[in-house]
Amino acid sequence: MSAAVPASLTIRRPDDWHVHFRDGAMLAAVLPHTAAQFARALVMPNLVPPVTDVSAARAYRERILAARPEGSDFKPLMTCYLTDTTRPDEIEAGFAEQVWLGAKLYPAGATTNAHHGVTDIAALAPVLERMERIGMALSIHGEATDPATDIFDRESIFMEETLLPLLKRHQGLKVVLEHITTAETLDIVRAHGPRVAGTITPHHLTINRTSIFQGGLRPHLYCLPVAKRERHRLALRKAATSGETCFFLGTDTAPHRRGDKEAACGCAGLFVGPTALQTYVQVFEEEGALHHFEGFASLNGPNFHGIPVNAGTIELLRRPGRMPAAVAVEDTEVVVYRGGEDLPWSIGRVAA
Ligand code: NCD
Ligand code: ZN
Repeated sequence: MSAAVPASLTIRRPDDWHVHFRDGAMLAAVLPHTAAQFARALVMPNLVPPVTDVSAARAYRERILAARPEGSDFKPLMTCYLTDTTRPDEIEAGFAEQVWLGAKLYPAGATTNAHHGVTDIAALAPVLERMERIGMALSIHGEATDPATDIFDRESIFMEETLLPLLKRHQGLKVVLEHITTAETLDIVRAHGPRVAGTITPHHLTINRTSIFQGGLRPHLYCLPVAKRERHRLALRKAATSGETCFFLGTDTAPHRRGDKEAACGCAGLFVGPTALQTYVQVFEEEGALHHFEGFASLNGPNFHGIPVNAGTIELLRRPGRMPAAVAVEDTEVVVYRGGEDLPWSIGRVAA
């Protein structure tokens, strides 16, 4: 534990390198929460239908910009959803025209709206070669997809069977392993840096697999990749707070309507956007690593992707705060991770 906790911490404005904004009423309801904390966010393309070409990405970006609160300078960074039929020329065009910054690889069926994902990753070689050539990053949801595979082993099996061969085939490709959940995946990132990086969510730093069953089944703690054992959570906390530049912030905020979570077959995804920075900074304080927070939140991501860091600052206050337990969407609501709880940190002034 650090001896003296400051009353506030001012860092360069951070970016969220993994968000699900959805569309329509949900987009309008959730976007302000991310825009209040982050200057930019990498927007996941798993809409229905997914964002697979330049014109769809451009149109989605416009809808996001239109949903921003009055006066917001929030900037969405788009991604292209890779499928079996993605063309290298399309990938390059969207990158050259600065419509998207990266591409997202969902193994087919791995998670929410991933059924259009890639069935044969080796066959993606022409696309990946092109990305390698133009310096465009590949973001990967790294889980094996065979439904018979134990859900707690899906990340490690994907890494061994699919990711390591892919890294060998494409030695210059920039890869982000998203929402890392195991100690072994952290080590894979370390071994392949600096062209491989990893993002870490607030929830995987604060819950383990037992939390999902604490006192009963807790659907609002169910996400993919599912939280793992405590030893993994502790390894994630060490990695995030270590100062290693290959790890950075990506919340995987993934809103679902209450009824879609509290169901016989509930959706995967946690709505962590409104409490994201409060949770991360609390973890850094608990690990005695507040001096590494700015790197994780605001510097390592832009440096990896090759874009400038943000100009402004955000102030985090060591002052109790509370976010709403849920956010209204049409006639229902989305439950907020750690919403309604007293959190030790709150958000202060943002200076553009
Ligand atoms: C995400 C979603 O709901 O879109 N769900 C989740 O559990 N994280 C998809 C994803 O990133 O896996
Ligand atoms: Zn996600």
